[in-house]
Amino acid sequence: MPDEKHIADNEEDVSSYPSLPTHIAVIMDGNGRWAKRHGLPRISGHRRGLESVRTMVKACADYKIPYLTLFAFSSENWRRPPAEVNLLMDLFANALEQKARRLHENNVCLRIVGDTSRFSPKIRMLIQRAETLTRNNDGLKLTIAANYGGRWDVTQACQRIARDAAAGNLKAEDVTEDTIAQCLATSFLPEPDLFIRTGGERRVSNFLLWQLAYTELYFTETLWPAFDGEEFEQALASFAKRERRFGRTGDQIVNQRQIRNA
Ligand code: FPP
Repeated sequence: MPDEKHIADNEEDVSSYPSLPTHIAVIMDGNGRWAKRHGLPRISGHRRGLESVRTMVKACADYKIPYLTLFAFSSENWRRPPAEVNLLMDLFANALEQKARRLHENNVCLRIVGDTSRFSPKIRMLIQRAETLTRNNDGLKLTIAANYGGRWDVTQACQRIARDAAAGNLKAEDVTEDTIAQCLATSFLPEPDLFIRTGGERRVSNFLLWQLAYTELYFTETLWPAFDGEEFEQALASFAKRERRFGRTGDQIVNQRQIRNA
């Protein structure tokens, strides 16, 4: 067992009992069911979902949470009825067009991750424009995962590494976890501390598969359009109670805290 000195030396490695997460990642599920319960078409649920995005962005900015990543459209969402896919694309395009300036005024830096090659030229142009407009902002880093899949991300990282190796720039034995992390679409982000999924399902659904390895998971029955400031605070309160051990024992974490507080 490591002695106290050893634990103290490694103090930088671990943050136990953190009060606030640095990076929150969200699966915004339940828009369709919310609409159905209110006798509305599914797209109304997505529109209301966009309102919850606004609430969440504001709450993160108020709490000074530096990173928020939202799963807006998965690689698998193309399988939905074409009419819903088209409406989601319109909503995405309108949001990029109409909200980018407001995000910029609020010092938010917006990034889109995912295979954007499948989007229309108009959406690709709006993505580029919004990212360029907000790129120097040092407030909330808001990342939207669009046409994103965790397996796609790991696959494209492997392809980049294989190309580097084939070009003679990298040896197989030099490939480390860091090499992979640096090739992921989210390489500019720290790993999420807190994952929230609304809508009652308890799955990760091919979101940030590599990145969620040590993330605290929080599931709520609340449907995304009903996820408000109070719900967000409940998720934060749950997170604040978690003991993050990163492979260590509970006793090590307690010792470490005592040393830190001495
Ligand atoms: C899941 O609900 C939600 C989506 C697939 C789309 C998420 C989109 C938004 C919240 C609005 C747009 C956001 C941005 C950032 C532009 P679901 O349709 O699977 O709901 P269900 O499980 O009740 O059917």
